[in-house]
Amino acid sequence: MTATTARAVPASADPAILDGVDLSALARRVGTPCHVYSASAIRQRIAALQSALHGLDAQVCYAVKANSNLAILQLMADAGFGADIVSGGELWRCLHAGIPAARVVFSGVGKSADEIADALHAGVARFNVESADELQLLQRIAGKRNVTAHASVRINPDVDALTHAKISTGKSENKFGVGIDEAREWFAASARLTHVRLDGLHVHIGSQMLSLDPIRAALQRTAGFRRELADAGHAIHSIDVGGGLGVCYRAGQDHPVAIEDYVTVIREALAGFNGRILLEPGRWLVAEAGVLLTRVIRIKHGRQRTFLVLDAAMTDLIRPSLYDAWHDIVPLAHHERLLQTYDVVGPVCESSDTFARDRALPRCEAGDLVMIKATGAYGASMASTFNSRPLVAEVLLDQGRYAVVRRRQSLDEMVAGEQPAQNWEEP
Ligand code: LLP
Repeated sequence: MTATTARAVPASADPAILDGVDLSALARRVGTPCHVYSASAIRQRIAALQSALHGLDAQVCYAVKANSNLAILQLMADAGFGADIVSGGELWRCLHAGIPAARVVFSGVGKSADEIADALHAGVARFNVESADELQLLQRIAGKRNVTAHASVRINPDVDALTHAKISTGKSENKFGVGIDEAREWFAASARLTHVRLDGLHVHIGSQMLSLDPIRAALQRTAGFRRELADAGHAIHSIDVGGGLGVCYRAGQDHPVAIEDYVTVIREALAGFNGRILLEPGRWLVAEAGVLLTRVIRIKHGRQRTFLVLDAAMTDLIRPSLYDAWHDIVPLAHHERLLQTYDVVGPVCESSDTFARDRALPRCEAGDLVMIKATGAYGASMASTFNSRPLVAEVLLDQGRYAVVRRRQSLDEMVAGEQPAQNWEEP
């Protein structure tokens, strides 16, 4: 990995300033809602991770799904990071952003034949294989092309990640990976794989983990299996420890683990393993670097509740609707105003278009700017155009300057590809 110099995020106690940029002025220039990311904050996380990994044979493969904007991927490419992808679309983005295929690992339970063929053609480093069927398909496609694919077994260690059920992946009832018993059979039969070199292990048990215990347990299980395989004559060249490190969504309440402590757990659990360690962090690198900048449309006094209606919606940030996720919400100005309790909602015609219930905020008025915090991961990347709301702008900040890295979608762009049913054909 190449070293990146950490540049300090210009410190500011003023919530209206991010990475040296006045967010009110920015809102006037690019409009609201918009996703805003601090490049300095992302570079700081990159540098902290690189420093924690010092001395290890490690490759970071950024989990593209967290934030797949090309400008964010470029920051990862600049740091020498690779990528963890789960679709042909994510591969395409990586290649366009300058992440070489040789640093890309391909995960996911539903890789299609076309996606596998395209990834082999591009030369991805490794497939994280999640089923026997996929393994056979990989063998057939690699055989047809007369190439050898490198593959890791995604182990499902049956460990509870102690996080939200919808973002847990490492229990045996989840669709991800295979149990150690099945993986053992794969290795026993691996001599028959003429075009797949099964020489890696992969484990990812969940996301937004705030405790090291499940991570330690999953890695210990993986390391024990690695030793067993070595004894049986199966050399393992890489262990991919997945992602899942949690961040602070709720100030004072969420206590993320320190990156050095996380890496210490990896060092300890994988002690004695001489191959390459792959890491797939997503959220930890980008979540806290982002805010969703939005304006109050109006205050609506319901019979029972007072609604703060924002111009942002679940289409821009679906985490609260999908996982009841908490995001801190901060008005940009008027902190001296008395607190008022709001249900913070968007304009979409769904009751679940709610960012927060019973949230105490300084009293707001129509036109006020509000930011929803820690939206750099799984915000824009999970956006939709439901209710025919065009995708919002994304802006990268860097020490007092800004660059629009996704322009606000126009209505024409939103309907691009749609057409009246005119040219009827028989299949
Ligand atoms: N590797 C694999 C194989 C994964 O499935 C994931 C996330 C990651 C790495 C990255 O995990 P991270 O470091 O970001 O926690 N939409 C949800 C999160 C879903 C995560 C899915 N897989 C959310 O907004 O919380």
